[in-house]
Parts: sequence; structure tokens; C-alpha cells
Amino acid sequence: MAHGTLDGELAAIARRIDEIADADAHQLEALKTALLGRKAGALTAILRSVADLPPDDRRRIGSAANALKVRIEEALGARLKALADPGRQAGVDLTLPGRSTWRGALHPITQAVDEICDIFRELGFSRVVGPEAELEAYNFTKLNIPLDHPAADAHDTFYLGPGIVLRTHTSPMQARIMERFPPPIRIVVPGLCYRRDPFDPSHAPAFEQIEGLVVDEGVSFVDFKAAIDFFVRRFFGSGTRVRFRPSFFPFTEPSAEVDAQCQVCRGSGCPTCKQTGWMEIMGAGMVHPAVFEANGVDSERYTGYAFGMGPGRIAMVRHGIPDIRMYFQNDMRFLDQFVE
Ligand code: DAH
Repeated sequence: MAHGTLDGELAAIARRIDEIADADAHQLEALKTALLGRKAGALTAILRSVADLPPDDRRRIGSAANALKVRIEEALGARLKALADPGRQAGVDLTLPGRSTWRGALHPITQAVDEICDIFRELGFSRVVGPEAELEAYNFTKLNIPLDHPAADAHDTFYLGPGIVLRTHTSPMQARIMERFPPPIRIVVPGLCYRRDPFDPSHAPAFEQIEGLVVDEGVSFVDFKAAIDFFVRRFFGSGTRVRFRPSFFPFTEPSAEVDAQCQVCRGSGCPTCKQTGWMEIMGAGMVHPAVFEANGVDSERYTGYAFGMGPGRIAMVRHGIPDIRMYFQNDMRFLDQFVE
């Protein structure tokens, strides 16, 4: 089988060598990344794919790509030397070590939040935010959670004062949006939540959640499954399987927990997924009529679905991060891995 496209790509890369000879220091760095970068380098991608080619192509493409790599490295080296030529930059001691600079980047959780919200935006969801200091009523009672429910128990909730809490989830925004805006509603709500949890490898007292809410006439569980299916395939990859398990939440009926195929073992079972092949990614369900009624929505006319997920946890699954506390330690060796 001929690999015309790979040959074409190699030729295109070869043509760029001429650019190296004229590049300034900044352009040189960009060219180096574009061609040989570990993540996005055009030639790196080809070299990586060589192993999967049929034997004949493998030899031919492999040696052409390697030869090209040598040529590029030589050209880069030569240009770097020319740029550093003391004759060109009189008065500068080019032997001094350079000042090191940090390249800034978004925190890995922020990256996951943005990516998730962008996927839902394709389905017509708006992104909204709400208060972290929240009234007990929004956090609990308007969501059909009575104050004597275990979730409302003072052991889990930070109280700021009588009737005022640090929100324990992003669900209160369901109530705030429903009482202010008539349907149709399609929102995702990212934000920090707080619980009196121990700070251990899988719990943090402050953590990110993303709430989703859809309210309209004729919304069914099928719409919900289709949206989640779309999200999981987009976020984890098109071959990823999803399953819905029956569950319980006071604000949904029926309720479900959604699992995605384990990203580490791809479903065959490993320590990360406790040999189940699945990772739980969200709680969800059809909005309980009592929640509609508590927030001024006609439950005879409208139906809807809601979901809540933890982007921090989801990013741990995706990147194989073993301990949630790593997100908070500001260790550059950890954070540097997420610089794009
Ligand atoms: N609020 C729940 C929690 O923090 C998550 C959740 C479950 C949100 C089901 C929902 C839902 O919107 O339908 O554990």
C-alpha cells in the first residue's frame, strides 16, 4: 500500500528547512516546536506513526523521516550559532547564562472545566456562575433536600452563619436559574464547592463541580442519555463506552450515576477502577417535580434533566493523577506537565 500522504507531509516538512536559515531567535524556537516538538511536532508525529506502517513503507518512510530529522537539527544548530555570533551583537556577553522565564498556563482543573463547558456549548448550553456563599434554602430545601437529610448534616457543611453555608454542590444554581428565567433552560455551572471532608488522596475540602440543567417541554431521559453520550465520546474519545446505573438523589427522579469506560485499562480491569472496568463520572437524573414546584416551574408542562460532575476527579482519571492534593501543592514539576 502506498503512503502518498506521508510522503507528501515529509516533502512539506522538507520545504520548511529553508525558513530556518532566515529565522530570528523567536521564529527559530517556533519552528523547532512545529517540526520537532514532543507534543505537536509534525515530524515527531510521523516518526511516532512509523511503527504501525506495513514493513516496506516502514523502512522507506522511517529512513526518510530520520534523515530529515538530522537535516533539520543541523539547520537549527547552524542558525542558532549564527544568531549567537558575537560579531552580530557587539557588547553582549553571550556566554552568560540566560534568564530563565516561566511560561504561564491554566491550572489543569481549569483546563478540564473549559473543555467540558465548550463541549456542552456545542449542544446549546450557556455557561453561568453563582455564589459560593449560599443560602441554606438554595443549597438544600429548594432542591428537595430536607434539613434533616444526611447531606444537610452539619458534619458535611461549612456554616458561615445562621441559614448561610458555603455551597456543598453547584446544584443550588438550578434553583436560582429556574426562579429567575422561564424555560427553555440549558445551562452548565462550573464552580467551587466546599465540604467538611478530610484532605486525603481522593477528597479535598474545596473542589470544583460542574452542574448541568435542561428544562423544556417534552425533555426525556433519552435526550439526557444522548447528551451525556455525546459528551463522553467527545471528552474521552469516540470509542469510549458509557453506562447508566440507577441511583438516588433527592432532586431527581429517576436518578442515575453515569460511568465511563476506565481510561487506564480501557475496560479490562485495573487497580484504578478497582477491577470493574468503569469509572464513575457524574450523578444525574430527571428533575424532580418537587424541585420544579419549589422554584416556580409548572411541573405539568415542563420536564428536564440535571447532572453534576467533578472536573477535578475527571481530569485525574484522564491524566492518571494519583492524589487530588497534587492540584493544590503548586509544585512546578507537576504543573509544568500541563503547559500546552
Ligand atoms: N449535587 C450532587 C452532589 O454534589 C451531584 C448531582 C447529582 C447533581 C445528580 C445533579 C444530579 O444535578 O442530577 O453529589
